[in-house]
Amino acid sequence: MDGTALSARHSLSPEIAQLVARHKPGGPLERAFYTAPEVFAADLARIQHRHWLFAGYAFQIPKAGDYFTYRVGTESIIVVRGRAGEIRAFHNVCRHRGSRICSTETGHAHRLVCPYHRWTYELDGALVLDTRREFGVDKEDLSLKPVAIVDAAGLLFVSLSDQPPDFSEALATIRRKMAPHAIARAKIAHRPTPRNTPPPPTTCSATPPCSIPRCSPAWMPSWRAPTPASAPSASTRAMPCRP
Ligand code: FES
Repeated sequence: MDGTALSARHSLSPEIAQLVARHKPGGPLERAFYTAPEVFAADLARIQHRHWLFAGYAFQIPKAGDYFTYRVGTESIIVVRGRAGEIRAFHNVCRHRGSRICSTETGHAHRLVCPYHRWTYELDGALVLDTRREFGVDKEDLSLKPVAIVDAAGLLFVSLSDQPPDFSEALATIRRKMAPHAIARAKIAHRPTPRNTPPPPTTCSATPPCSIPRCSPAWMPSWRAPTPASAPSASTRAMPCRP
């Protein structure tokens, strides 16, 4: 299919459609696939913001108030464990003036407090203010915007879509295959500190550099899996690089 037909059929910009049309199946991708901002934007809009993404592990936030942040393009998501042990995800955006609320990759908080004007949110995302008296609106109107999240045997998947695609079949498979590993009961055995670890790169270190942000595996915590009777052995593994 040529670029014009591709552009019309898949609502792609002419430049990206030409790029896709030139690509030979099984062959290497042209440089623009890695470096062009338009390709990155299309990737975010058509895939990253529509589908389910692996965000991290439940064992990263074992206690109520533990959280980590997960970045998808320019978006930041807070994944936090609530007081009853449930895990929720929110857009990391204050409902007052849009400031980032959590600026670190991991942390612990009794409540989520915006650093700008100190608006404070419960771990379930509710703003700690009488919003009806202060602003004449319901509390839900000023609570943190939730992000869809599912826990699949300790693996956390999020979707930025308002209508996430059906994930039930894949979830059932993941849960069945991951259950013997008991990842939900794993514990972090070693967490590098800023003193002994260089800061993570903010962009890909490939040559030529691409525009896709990524984490360094060296900066991620290591984790030790439990040893249930069904698991072959305990092991310490580096967590995979997050996209
Ligand atoms: S922007 Fe968060 S309190 Fe003002």
